[in-house]
Amino acid sequence: MTHEAGWAHAPGALRGPSWLREPGDVNDLVPHLWSQTAHKVDGELHVGGLAVPDLVANVNTPAYVLDEADFRARARAFRDAFAAYDVFYAGKAFLCTAVARWIQEEGLCLDVCSAGELTVALRAGVDPARIGYHGNNKTLSELRRAVAAGIGRIVVDSFDEIERLESITGDGATARVMIRVTAGVEAHTHEYIATAHEDQKFGLSITNGQAFEAVRRVLAAPGIELLGLHSHIGSQIFDSAGFEVAARRVLALQARVSDELGVTLPEMDLGGGFGIAYTTQDDPADPAQLATEMSKIVEHECRALGIPEPRLSIEPGRAIVGPAMCTVYTVGTVKPVQLDGGAVRTYVSVDGGMSDNIRTALYDADYSCTLASRASDAPPVLARVVGKHCEAGDIVVKDEFLPGDVRPGDLLAVPGTGAYCRSMASNYNHALRPPVVAVRDGVARVVVRRETEDDLLATDMGDL
Ligand SMILES: Cc1ncc(COP(=O)(O)O)c(C=O)c1O
Repeated sequence: MTHEAGWAHAPGALRGPSWLREPGDVNDLVPHLWSQTAHKVDGELHVGGLAVPDLVANVNTPAYVLDEADFRARARAFRDAFAAYDVFYAGKAFLCTAVARWIQEEGLCLDVCSAGELTVALRAGVDPARIGYHGNNKTLSELRRAVAAGIGRIVVDSFDEIERLESITGDGATARVMIRVTAGVEAHTHEYIATAHEDQKFGLSITNGQAFEAVRRVLAAPGIELLGLHSHIGSQIFDSAGFEVAARRVLALQARVSDELGVTLPEMDLGGGFGIAYTTQDDPADPAQLATEMSKIVEHECRALGIPEPRLSIEPGRAIVGPAMCTVYTVGTVKPVQLDGGAVRTYVSVDGGMSDNIRTALYDADYSCTLASRASDAPPVLARVVGKHCEAGDIVVKDEFLPGDVRPGDLLAVPGTGAYCRSMASNYNHALRPPVVAVRDGVARVVVRRETEDDLLATDMGDL
């Protein structure tokens, strides 16, 4: 859905990007950017049956608000649409023990990519056989732990890793692995590029023969069971075109393995990266549509290659948790800044910033926001929401229309912050990382508490 900015601008007024919604709607939510239970009552944002101003009166701001019903519904939508697949929730998007349990309860598997994420998954009681373990540089001790825990699949990413696995398997210890291959496809947002893109750290190249060599090597290792090939092509992908090219290349390798090595690989993983709406310009496909298209592609290719269809798996992270969370901030200062040409941009500083959402600074990501604590009839101004860190690039929302009377003490809520915000949060400027508060049916539960200054000092050993 694209909203063109069709309103008249006063001479010299600052124009936002063309996809910004019309400022006349400034108090309303754009529903597809928000979790399913989010709505406004007299200007106050409600999520999970709770008024956000009441909620943050207890937990303070900034705070991530996680709509449990929405998270579970999105997880179920993937599980149901991809019923013939294994759906691994990519924990790197956001993971805590509560979320790991919800994932298990909804019948999904879980992907981890570090020892820390594995610890959280195991602490939550996730069945190790339903865990996948990613990473381009797993240490020997991490691999030993994964094998000892009986992890369902380790996604091998290098010859060094194969060597490490060989050193700890055998003598009764076995590892079930997939090999991460580089299919020469990179997909981001609405674009995919099916050339080159071998120049990155993940995977073993199909083109230069490393992937085939890794297959041969793993098949020869006595304690390692090869489940299949794995490909992940990027993030914020809105259609199946990139998956189609990747699947074709991975299945061609699979056919070669069958022809030359006489081995039928039983599984294949097409990775994650399914897009979500951060702004009105984004129009994600729904899981059912993706499932139909991806299944057709694989079925068609396997028939053409004369190989049996492998059991498929996917790894959505952002598409499950992204829209389920919003971040609530308190406005601290409001500063109109006159730009060259006379237009004015209103800088609204909030009590968080790049320490709780690095994506704007890191990826030039777009977000939107809304006034969450009251309605306003004030004419809109084009605002930039910035954090409180010592960095000019500390921007949370680059452009959004807010009521012109936005002022200190107002609450602002930013939707779509479930993925890669809390999980990438930092202590920059010794910020205390915010809590995650799960809300459902009028009940709030802190599932990750706010850090304290004692937490910060706990690792500071003093001048000993
Ligand atoms: C191997 C792999 N699988 C899954 C994902 C999840 O991607 P997303 O959260 O965009 O679905 C990622 C993200 O980087 C990844 O690297």
